[in-house]
Amino acid sequence: MRKKIVAGNWKMNTTVPEGVELAKAVVAKSVEVPAGVGLIVATPATHLCPVAEVVKGTRVELSAENCADKEKGAYTGEVSAAMVASTGAQWTILGHSERRQYYGETDEKLVEKVKLALANSLKVILCVGENLEEREAERHFEVVKTQTENVLFQFTAEEMASIVIAYEPVWAIGTGKTATAEQAEEIHAFIRKVLADHFGKKVAADMTILYGGSCKPSNAKELFAQPDIDGGLIGGASLKADDFIGIALAF
Ligand code: 13P
Repeated sequence: MRKKIVAGNWKMNTTVPEGVELAKAVVAKSVEVPAGVGLIVATPATHLCPVAEVVKGTRVELSAENCADKEKGAYTGEVSAAMVASTGAQWTILGHSERRQYYGETDEKLVEKVKLALANSLKVILCVGENLEEREAERHFEVVKTQTENVLFQFTAEEMASIVIAYEPVWAIGTGKTATAEQAEEIHAFIRKVLADHFGKKVAADMTILYGGSCKPSNAKELFAQPDIDGGLIGGASLKADDFIGIALAF
């Protein structure tokens, strides 16, 4: 059976000391969450080493928010998958809509990033999702299908076991406007069908698909009750340990 996961994406928030305190608070409260729910914190690259120390030996797993599309070398300012893995992190988020929108992240680059992440034994949270214009033009199914095909269809069924998908409608990120549980379920079920048609039913049934976009303790229960929603990728609400754990308790 596929894993349930609640992952916090801190984005470009907190200083290192603040991040360490937040991670400690998440670890302290993680005992309240049922054992079957995976907990991940995704921190800025600067925070990975000290937060790795905080979460070591606990149930809380650590993720980067991005990694480079090149192995190593003269790429000033980039952080490679090998560097992320060497901090003790087990995961990296890739393809977040903010990276696609502001930093020119293309599906082609994402294929390289996913390859390098997997080669360095990192698990991947791959983000997909349509923007408001695409939703209003009723192109959301097509957009999400294309993103899924362009990136994930370059990998094998075996490699898919190290990948989680996060569906994040761009119009619901940081806007307070959540997709309704029905809207989210509709796309999650669609993504699972796209996966089933290509990889077969088993890969599709085993794939964890998270919802992201203004997820809070107050709406998580309804979202997580949907058959194809396996958890959440949480932005703003992950910056408060109480809210983050409150979301995980919605299972
Ligand atoms: P918010 O929860 O702040 O809407 O952000 C969602 C997100 O982008 C998580 O990756």
